[in-house]
Amino acid sequence: MIHGNRTEPSLKELFSNQFLIGAAVNPVTIESQRELLTYHYNSITAENEMKFERLHPAEDTYTFEDADQIADFARQNGLKLRGHTLVWHNQTSAWMFEDQDGNRVDRSTLLERMRSHIHTVVGRYKQDIYAWDVVNEVIADEGDQLLRPSAWLEIAGPDFISKAFEFAHEADPEALLFYNDYNESHPHKRDKIYALVKSLLEQGVPIHGVGLQAHWNLYDPSLDDIRAAIEKYASLGLQLQLTELDMSVFAFNDRRTDLLHPTEELLELQAARYEAIFGLLREYQEVISSVTFWGAADDYTWLNDFPVRGRKNWPFLFDEKHQPKPAFWRVAGGEG
Ligand code: GLA
Repeated sequence: MIHGNRTEPSLKELFSNQFLIGAAVNPVTIESQRELLTYHYNSITAENEMKFERLHPAEDTYTFEDADQIADFARQNGLKLRGHTLVWHNQTSAWMFEDQDGNRVDRSTLLERMRSHIHTVVGRYKQDIYAWDVVNEVIADEGDQLLRPSAWLEIAGPDFISKAFEFAHEADPEALLFYNDYNESHPHKRDKIYALVKSLLEQGVPIHGVGLQAHWNLYDPSLDDIRAAIEKYASLGLQLQLTELDMSVFAFNDRRTDLLHPTEELLELQAARYEAIFGLLREYQEVISSVTFWGAADDYTWLNDFPVRGRKNWPFLFDEKHQPKPAFWRVAGGEG
C-alpha cells in the first residue's frame, strides 16, 4: 500500500505480535495527522470528545457529533477504538450533582443518572468501542487516604466505583473494562491503585484491566519503578494497557521556557529512554495488550502550555512534520 512518501517501517506492524499501538486524536488531528495515524497506529482514543461534559452538557441533552466523527474515522480505517472516560472528577458537568435548585442530589439520584449516562454512551458505541476507561483517577496521590475527595465520593460513597463497572458491564457485556490512573508507577500510588483494584476483584466487580496513563518524562519514573508497577498490577491477573503515554523532555519541576527546539542532547536522552521503555514493554508483552500515546506527533500535544504556559514540548516518536525522530528509530530497532 502506498502511504505518502513514507519509507520507515510501520509501528503497528513492528509490534503486531506484541500489542496494539494507539494514539489519542481529536476532530482536528484526524485530518491534520490522517496519513501518520493510518500508517503507524491501529488504535485510537478520543482525547476529550467522549468525556462527560462533552457528551452530556445538560440532563436532557447529548452532543455526539464529535465523538461520532472519531468513531467513524476508526471504522473507516479499521482502527480499534478505546472509550475514554465514563466516571471522572474532572470534565464532568455540574448539573450531574445538582437538583433544579442547585442543591446536591442524593445518592440514589446520582447513581441513577450515572446508570443512564453509561447505558446511553456505552450502548451507542457498542459496535465500535472494544474497551472503556470506566473510572479515571479516583486514587489520592498523597497521604494515607485511598480515594481522592470528589462529588462522586461525597454523595454516593466509595461504591460509586463498583457501580460504574456494573453499569458498564450491563450496557455492553463484551467490552473490556479498565481502571485508569496517572502516577501509576510511583510506589505509594501504585500500592493504592493495586489495593483498590484487588478489592473490586474480591467483590466480583466486572473489571478486566488496569490502564497505566504513563504521562512520563525523561527522568521519571525510573525503569525499576515501571517494572515493579507492571509486575504488581499483572499479579492481579488482569491485562494492562498504557493508555496515555508521552515523554516530556522536562523534569516535572522544571519551569524553563527558553527552549524553542529540542536540543540534540534531549533528543538523544529521549531516544534512549523510549528504547529502554519499549524493551521493558516487550518483556511484558504477555500482559500488555495495547500501548496508546496521548497524541501522535510533536505538532500537537496537551503538554504545549501545560503545566508551564508559553512552553512547547516534544513528547512523541514523530516530529512536528510527522517525520521519525531518533526515538522512533531506537524503538523500531534500526537506524534512520
Ligand atoms: C488525564 C486524563 C486525560 C487527559 C489528560 C491531560 O490524564 O485521563 O483524559 O485529560 O489528563 O490531557
